[in-house]
Amino acid sequence: MNRTSESATVVVVTHSFEIRTLEHGEWALLRQLRLRALREAPEAFGPSVRRERLRTASYWHEQMNLCRWFVAEAGRGQIGFAAGSAPLADHVDERHLLSLWVSPDWRRRGVARQLIEAVASWAAADSARSLSLWVFEQNKAAINVYERLGFTGTGHSKPFDSRQEMRMIMSVLGRRPETGTHPAEF
Ligand SMILES: CC(C)(COP(=O)(O)OP(=O)(O)OC[C@H]1O[C@@H](n2cnc3c(N)ncnc32)[C@H](O)[C@@H]1OP(=O)(O)O)[C@@H](O)C(=O)NCCC(=O)NCCS
Repeated sequence: MNRTSESATVVVVTHSFEIRTLEHGEWALLRQLRLRALREAPEAFGPSVRRERLRTASYWHEQMNLCRWFVAEAGRGQIGFAAGSAPLADHVDERHLLSLWVSPDWRRRGVARQLIEAVASWAAADSARSLSLWVFEQNKAAINVYERLGFTGTGHSKPFDSRQEMRMIMSVLGRRPETGTHPAEF
């Protein structure tokens, strides 16, 4: 682009990404993504990368069984992921959102929004009425994302190490399954 010319040149780049669920056999990819997220944003998550790196293959197999994992992909690369977990014993109408992370070079392009929508649609299809999550009170960016998408604070919070986690919840009633490619224009 010639920046010195008088007539402005507008460059529009179109990127797109897809959300899909991880297959059971993809536990090594899940491990890779988790370690990437923990390395990049340790302040956002509970476990340390050191502890998570030592987990055995059976732990990752178990994670594949316990949660439905959604990954965002652009081309052949992974740019984000999130999970929905099975019902908690005392909240049968509820599913839980966890492990949301988006690669820094893909932030503010709606990737988290689409991952959360995918988890919420999965929860609705799984007969849930609501989707809950825990987020560190210091994580203003994530809280903003959650509020923008309809989550509200429940008023519950709990300590985690030296930090405080707050619980948020959103209704998923009336949602439809969602899949496909998500174009984002800049
Ligand atoms: C939080 C995070 C997942 C957001 O991902 P993202 O793909 O950039 O979010 P989106 O582009 O879908 O944002 C949706 C809306 O949330 C809000 N939002 C997103 N990032 C924000 C930020 N850093 N500050 C303030 N608001 C923000 C905006 O309103 C945005 O809409 P807009 O861009 O049209 O204004 C990402 O920053 C991240 O991975 N952070 C580190 C890990 C983390 O904190 N995970 C959550 C653990 S609970």
